[in-house]
Formats: sequence, C-alpha cells, structure tokens
Amino acid sequence: MIRQFAMLLLAACTWGTMSLQAQKNDFFRPQQVWNDTEGNPINAHGGGILYHEGTYYWYGEYKVGKTILPSWATWECYRTDVTGVSCYSSKDLLNWKFEGVVLKAVPDDPDSDLHPSQVVERPKVIYNKKTKKFVMWIHADSPDYSKAAAGVAISDSPTGEFSYIGSFRPNNSMSRDQTLFVDDDGTAYQFSSSEENRTMHINRLTDDYTRPDGTFVRRFVDQSREAPAVFKYNNKYYMLSSGCTGWSPNEAELAVADSIMGEWTVLGNPCTGPDAEKTFYGQSTYVIPVQGKKNAYIACFDMWNKTDLANSKYIWLPIKIDQKTNTLTIPWMKQWNMDEFK
Ligand code: GAL
Repeated sequence: MIRQFAMLLLAACTWGTMSLQAQKNDFFRPQQVWNDTEGNPINAHGGGILYHEGTYYWYGEYKVGKTILPSWATWECYRTDVTGVSCYSSKDLLNWKFEGVVLKAVPDDPDSDLHPSQVVERPKVIYNKKTKKFVMWIHADSPDYSKAAAGVAISDSPTGEFSYIGSFRPNNSMSRDQTLFVDDDGTAYQFSSSEENRTMHINRLTDDYTRPDGTFVRRFVDQSREAPAVFKYNNKYYMLSSGCTGWSPNEAELAVADSIMGEWTVLGNPCTGPDAEKTFYGQSTYVIPVQGKKNAYIACFDMWNKTDLANSKYIWLPIKIDQKTNTLTIPWMKQWNMDEFK
C-alpha cells in the first residue's frame, strides 16, 4: 500500500515537472495566448515593465470576470470590475512568474478609486533611488471616464503590496492614458492624454516621484494621441502612441525629440507588414529597453478584446533600428526571440 502510494507520488511529481517544463516559452508569439510559469494566461493589460536588480517586473490591469457596457453608455466604455494591478517577474522577458495582485481593489469602500465599480488602467511603476520606494501611477477614473485623474501608490518591494496614496489631476489638468519615464539623470516625467485626450501633457515629477513638481508642457496639441510609451535611444527621446478610437485599433505613431520637454517631431507609423495601419490590431503600452544588449528595444502592445476584456492578448515585437539612418521600424513577426537583436 505504502509502496503503491510512493509510486503514485513519484508519477505525480514527474508529471508535474514535465507539465512545468512544457510551460517554458522559447518564442514571443504576438497575438497568441501567452502563459505564465504556472500555465495560466498572463493577466497584465495596459502594462509597464520595470527592470530592477536583475529582474524584470511586469505590472498591468488584472482583468477578470464579465465585461460590462453600462446601460447609460452612449459610447463603447466597456469595462471589467476593478480587481487590482497584477505583477509578474521574469529574467528573460519570455517566462513570467505570477507574483500576485500587488495593488488590490477595495470592495468595501464605494468612495475609493480602487472600488470595483471604478476604472483603473495603465499602471506604470518606477523605482526611486533616493527614497528606495517603488512608485506606481495609474489612470484612475470613474465609470464614465469623467474623473480623468492620476492615482499614486508606493511600496518598499517591487512585488508589493502597494499602498494607495490617492488621486488628483496633475497640474489641475485631466489625465487619462498615461505612462512614466525616468531619464538618465533620475528626473521622472508623466506623459498623459489631457484636455479631453486632445493634447499630451508632459508633467515633470517631484524628487520622490509621487506628485507633479509644477513644471509641465503641452505637446501634440489637438493631435489626440493616446497610449503613450516613451523611451530613449541614441540620446533622443521617442514616443510611441495610438490615435483615439477607444478599444478599437488604429494607426500607431512614433515621434522624436532632442529634449523631453522640448519640441517633438512626428515621424509617422513605425509598423510595417500586414495590418500595419491597424498596429496589427494592437495599441501601444510600453517600450522595454532590453538589458545587456545595445540598441535593443521591445515594443509592447495590448490586443484588446473589447467585449471580453479579460481575454485580451498581447503583441510584443522587436524595434528594428537602421543605424545608418537611425530609422526605427516595427515589422510584423509571427514568432521571434532575442536572436533578433544579434
Ligand atoms: C482607450 C484607452 C484604454 C481605455 C479605453 C476605454 O483609448 O487607451 O486604456 O481607456 O480607451 O475605452
């Protein structure tokens, strides 16, 4: 009996190891289901990546349950109940371990920005070397998106739990789709779609990264850009963004600037290949500088499934850089791996 039990246990362990091995991802497969190390689809939408002490952390909207279109809706403001912000960790950007929900919903306080009835989108986390805190900014909104605010949470550890400080309109201006960028000198900025999404505001942050410091500029005036993702290459600043068509895909745009709060020049659509004019059915959310490789960047997009948001997928593609002309393109690839950066 004991022997039989031991055999069974051994068989179960072997099977467990095999199934775990089977979960290893060797390729990025844009638009396909992407499983974490436990074999569950990665659930981190509108996300951002932080690299800290040898590990990448992916934070995103943790979307579970039914997609709701409120009865009063006059536009496609589909949403899921707020459940929080998830975190995954990885060493290779391909295999991600679920670290849990690091900013949790607050179901028992209807006045909280984190109440299930509200909107929490596009979380981004940066590390503050001075305060040694991990600082998360979110798009905090009401179900009809009229609040248009930014929320801030902090944590001592990248895997949380983050404590929520509260929300505000940066420099008294609306703030919806947003991202954070830390420059080489440690100064951080929030880019946010402001003025009813018509104009991008670039808000410089205080030394502790928890507030705007009062200095900001209006850029892409009346150009209706959303989903900003900012990175630095060859001493220039780049912003990848989408147009404003809600959850439906549109054409991406890349812009460049010599100085972050200076003038930005629109370069056009960097995507090439089939469905490039629809960003391969994706919407930008982040650009990852690959550590340990020169001039290697990954453009991250969400592929929203607007009537079933929890089943939205991801499109991660390498940015191709022609170093003679400094031209950046994002060609479609069905599957790829880090060899693309050789
Ligand atoms: C998109 C935006 C998403 C979400 C959606 C709501 O334009 O990028 O993050 O806010 O609108 O319709």
